[in-house]
Amino acid sequence: MNKWQELEHKYFMHTVERVPLTIVKGQGARVWDEDGREYLDFVGGWAVTSLGHSHPVVVEALSEQARTLIQTSNQFYTIPQIRLAELLVEHSSLDKVFFSNSGAEANEGAIKLARRYGKRYLNGAFEVITTRGSFHGRTLAMVAAGGQAKFQEPYQPLPAGFINVEYNNIEAIKVATTPETCAVMLEPLQGEGGVNLPDEGYLAGVKAWCEQKGILFILDEIQTGLGRTGTLFAYEQDGVEPDIMTLAKGLACGVPIGALLAKDKASVFTPGEHGSTFGGNPLACAAAYATVKFIIENNVAENARKVGQYLASGLEKMRQKFPFITEVRGRGLLLAMEFDSDIASQVLTACLKEGFLVNRVKPNALRFMPPLIIGKEEVDEALSILDKVLSNVVS
Ligand SMILES: Cc1ncc(COP(=O)(O)O)c(C=O)c1O
Repeated sequence: MNKWQELEHKYFMHTVERVPLTIVKGQGARVWDEDGREYLDFVGGWAVTSLGHSHPVVVEALSEQARTLIQTSNQFYTIPQIRLAELLVEHSSLDKVFFSNSGAEANEGAIKLARRYGKRYLNGAFEVITTRGSFHGRTLAMVAAGGQAKFQEPYQPLPAGFINVEYNNIEAIKVATTPETCAVMLEPLQGEGGVNLPDEGYLAGVKAWCEQKGILFILDEIQTGLGRTGTLFAYEQDGVEPDIMTLAKGLACGVPIGALLAKDKASVFTPGEHGSTFGGNPLACAAAYATVKFIIENNVAENARKVGQYLASGLEKMRQKFPFITEVRGRGLLLAMEFDSDIASQVLTACLKEGFLVNRVKPNALRFMPPLIIGKEEVDEALSILDKVLSNVVS
């Protein structure tokens, strides 16, 4: 253990098993440790560094905004916030925005909005149907929403009002719908749950059911949004439009921010009903505006689609070569490789030694979520390291 890791053990709450690497610098798809060793980064701050580390447009926007205005209260109008709201609304199917500081908070806002809608239009309906294996954040309510026993058990009793049903099962949603239901909340594909794809027609079927029952259809695009899956928003690929959508992660390329968007009909907050001290802060909004503008103007989502296909086909060739790889799945640059046993940590450690960072999304699966601006050269480099590592796993 090095000096920093010893200090971490002394001073930090033990909430995470960290990878034994101290990152001191990042540039594009590369990071460096304190000894100057370089790594190819396919974790990207957990699908956050959409344009890579310290992209010049983000650095420029941050320094310019830091010199101008960092924070005001939300009692006042600020221009970066309004420009970002306009950009997001004009490029999505939603009409109104509220900014938060994180994904979990954006989702909390989504649930509050749905409950507010339920109070106003659905006789006080307040329950939200979510799916098992989903992940919506770490606040108590979002742990209840997320439907993963390992995150729920330590904190029972959890806030009421969430019904977790089987994923990819429209019938289960129909059965769980009662007069108390105000919304269904899904990820377009389950990211933290292991990159689990929706069956063909699942999202459209759920949306149709929500319309039929007059309840809201909420999509958590915190991980999938802003180009990650090969389109600006993942919902585009399933031919559905959410009534409420949440964003965070890649939105400001590493600067903390979340966004809650809604169709006009669902924008039912009135003054004083929701708020945040830092949410929509000028600094974060300037970084987000620069990031989203760059993503749109440079068709970064299309790069993610093409390079993602290239990466997926390389991983698929590996699946054919190594029988212990059971599946390669995902969309755009959100991909997973599953093994027939719990070797993901072992593979991760071996990749780390070779200067390649990947994420262990499940004991038997790796997840790849590099910056959306990477090219084939970086993918070739990653594939060659992975091939070498997996060859050693077999022997
Ligand atoms: C789909 C999804 N929703 C919500 C969250 C929570 O976001 P945050 O960690 O910013 O609170 C995450 C984080 O991984 C996520 O992947």
